[in-house]
Amino acid sequence: MCGIVGYIGTQAASSILLEGLRKLEYRGYDSAGIATVHEGQIQCVRAKGKLQNLEDKLAGLENPARLGIGHTRWATHGKPEEYNAHPHMDTAYRIAVVQNGIIENYRELREDLKAKGHEFRSETDTEVIPHLIAECMAHPVADQGQSLSYQSPFLEAVRQAVNQLEGAFALAVICADYPDELITVRQQAPLAIGFGQGEFFCASDTPALVAHTRAVLPLENGELARLTPLGVEVYTFGGERLKKFPRTLNWNPILVEKQGFKHFMLKEIYEQPGVVRACLEAYLRNDWAPEQSQVSPLNLNLPAVWADQLAHIQIVACGTSWHAGLVGKYLLEQLAGVPTQVHYASEFRYAPPPLTPHTLTIGVTQSGETADTLSALDMERQRRQGQPPDYQPHLLGITNRTDSTLATIVEHLINTHAGIEIGVAATKTFTAQLVAFYCLALELAYRRRTLSPTAIAPILDGLRQLPAQMELILESQERYIEELSHEFVDTQDFIFLGRGINFPIALEGALKLKEISYIHAEGYPAGEMKHGPIALLDAKVPVVAIAMPGAVYEKVISNAQEAKARDALLIGVTVSQDEHASEVFDRLLPIPVVDELLSPLLTVVPLQLLAYHIAARRGLDVDQPRNLAKSVTVE
Ligand code: G6P
Repeated sequence: MCGIVGYIGTQAASSILLEGLRKLEYRGYDSAGIATVHEGQIQCVRAKGKLQNLEDKLAGLENPARLGIGHTRWATHGKPEEYNAHPHMDTAYRIAVVQNGIIENYRELREDLKAKGHEFRSETDTEVIPHLIAECMAHPVADQGQSLSYQSPFLEAVRQAVNQLEGAFALAVICADYPDELITVRQQAPLAIGFGQGEFFCASDTPALVAHTRAVLPLENGELARLTPLGVEVYTFGGERLKKFPRTLNWNPILVEKQGFKHFMLKEIYEQPGVVRACLEAYLRNDWAPEQSQVSPLNLNLPAVWADQLAHIQIVACGTSWHAGLVGKYLLEQLAGVPTQVHYASEFRYAPPPLTPHTLTIGVTQSGETADTLSALDMERQRRQGQPPDYQPHLLGITNRTDSTLATIVEHLINTHAGIEIGVAATKTFTAQLVAFYCLALELAYRRRTLSPTAIAPILDGLRQLPAQMELILESQERYIEELSHEFVDTQDFIFLGRGINFPIALEGALKLKEISYIHAEGYPAGEMKHGPIALLDAKVPVVAIAMPGAVYEKVISNAQEAKARDALLIGVTVSQDEHASEVFDRLLPIPVVDELLSPLLTVVPLQLLAYHIAARRGLDVDQPRNLAKSVTVE
């Protein structure tokens, strides 16, 4: 989390930096700041809270500087106060740094630098960096790799400093004495460089670049780059020059605009039918028929060995992606017959299960940058390397960002084709991850022959109908859900119940609501309610039950009735033709008739809308809920 930007070129830097930060605000919004270099001085302006506060502070200030850096913060070390806001500077105010990540050895460095006379002004880990660079400029160390002082003493000082940092970080650094240089660094946190005409940009994520250029070079771990008005030079931390070329992004800047919707989240909910369609088009073979049983109906290009010898699957993920992983587990076990475990990536890292042979590890992350998920995958690869052949690592990533760090860790990616998602609460990327799991499970079911082609065909037909069914829910339900949301403006607790394949959807419905409306919400397997949460129920606690006709329908209805007997207001997500449901539920969120197996892609939509409208009605910042960040690049 945290977003960093940098600019060097011919235009006024500050407005470009602010515009870039606007596109990165999803990464954190505890404070924001920019620093620019002009006439041998650094001007640094920072403000607590959202970017708007910084913009207000900068309004009316003339700033012709053509070099600068900017930051939007998600606080880790130090309170979200202005004195902790980035950019941070050295004692003499000659060097300014913005950072995304965590410097793990900052305490030792801080003590050491203080002892050498450097004056600290914040509680952050980042502040050690400008002081350390200043120290390396004043007292260069001779024996650290290949010196770059011939190219630039500033570049060399940054190189020497980053070699002393431990942790995961991306940096942008400027110095008042080097008005033609912007130095960027990447170590386990994302950073991309944008190439313009006589101007260069850097940013934590490409949405901040696409308004200016599509020519983008993502730095790799252990690399630093020197951006000057003449071009970009890339080096390793060891000082070796690398030959690198930008690639062209296939991106439309319009995707990062609201296009008439009040919030990005609502826009992204509405994009779901299109996203599901795009994902199905990418992976389903249109010309396939069950009679052609020698050809897979899917087009995932997975290595054959992953299907033939597969004995276990383990999924690692965080947040909403973890919920997608739970649906994935259901599908992989029930359709493809592969025992599957789903782990929180943050737990997996420190308590991994014993190694099993012929195991596929799947990392699910929409951003492809979540630090815990990446580390879990990396650890899994490392602990399997050197083991006997049956235990070798097989890593698959499911992501919306094929240009992300995830791509450098796994052997194969499934692209979810959802397009950039700006709202912090994930919606369309979740449904796209579900589609990826349906495709994966069906591919494995086909290859492992756990489902016959004739059993697969109706599932594919059902999948193809989903986009139109989603459109129907959006058309017919949004208005009603908006009205319904008025009832819950003062509600403090919600319970979401589901069973089987819809249990993860109950979790996701609860997560959406708590993330953006700050209402306490719990998702529970319906059958477990009587073992605890039932004690919470009274007339003030609405219960949302997902009751899809199928294997667990009657059970869910019984569980819902147990809640009703405790005076809870019952809201049912069920199929529109269910007459029985209107007798049981106080409020209905009907969805089109759909096979239970495919229902999560529909049942989640009214829950997203419910969370959205309750939060919007409460007047909350739906797209940037408090304390959250979309891309969590720290542990
Ligand atoms: C953050 C976001 C969530 C997201 C989670 C995992 O917590 O606020 O919306 O689900 O990270 O993100 P990933 O990019 O790995 O899917």
